[in-house]
Amino acid sequence: MIELEDIAYVRSGASDLDAAVRFATDIVGMELIAREGDTAYLRADQRHHCLALVGGSSGVLASGLLVRDEDVLEDAERELERAGVRVTRGSAKQAHARRVQAFVGFDDPFGNHVELVCGQATVSRPVRFTRPAGITEFGHLCLDAPDVHAAYGFWSTHFNARVSDWIGDLACLIRIDPVHHKLAVFKGERPGLCHINFQVDSVDDVMRSWRFLERSGVEITLGPGRHPQSTAIFLYFQGPEGLTYEYSYGVRRIADEDAWRPRHFDPSEPDAIDLWQSTTGRVTSQPQVPDPVGET
Ligand SMILES: [Fe+2]
Repeated sequence: MIELEDIAYVRSGASDLDAAVRFATDIVGMELIAREGDTAYLRADQRHHCLALVGGSSGVLASGLLVRDEDVLEDAERELERAGVRVTRGSAKQAHARRVQAFVGFDDPFGNHVELVCGQATVSRPVRFTRPAGITEFGHLCLDAPDVHAAYGFWSTHFNARVSDWIGDLACLIRIDPVHHKLAVFKGERPGLCHINFQVDSVDDVMRSWRFLERSGVEITLGPGRHPQSTAIFLYFQGPEGLTYEYSYGVRRIADEDAWRPRHFDPSEPDAIDLWQSTTGRVTSQPQVPDPVGET
């Protein structure tokens, strides 16, 4: 069983890198902490970065998940290989480019490229947010798979992943610590990144950002609303290159692990995704594109 400690980062390809960086800073509010060649590093919390935008093909390159240390990483490598998963170890140069001590890459059974990392760099100085969106941390990331039940089978067999709630066949919300979900799988025909989430400090931050995004001409894809599963008040919006961002406040923490029973929400009910019953569209996913370890 591979113990995941946290989510680490998303690497996302951008055909117009400058525009993608402008959106991530001026609109989302993140700090551009470094730009090296074709890679721009965006910071939102103590992590050196949680989003790396890489100039090139548009699409998600990799989702990074954190394990405790090098020993756990080596065990993970062996466990996945025993299960028939092809695992590739990143070079020292690639690890530096990710600001991690070491990492391995693999594809989940549906083609989502995942990187397991250890020793992700921490930066201690306060984040220099470009805009006061109230971001407190990189909250969760959501992958796509054609069969969310099979996807949960993969994650729960090899990882400390526990389902918190199901939304029918549409979504599986997964926890790796007390937070209701740090990982989720949504139904999608192709592998891809459904969205990345940033927690914000208050309901007021969500609502202020809603008005700000509207004024800025940004497409709101869902919300403001409140998820019945996590109780988080949310807002989804569309960034460049098909990348969907989410702000949310007030995610449930599951304190009593033994007492929690996953619930099954019927996606055809009008409040399955939003207690406040906003128009529930399917947010746009960013398709997985190749990021073969060995190149960047
Ligand atoms: Fe979300």
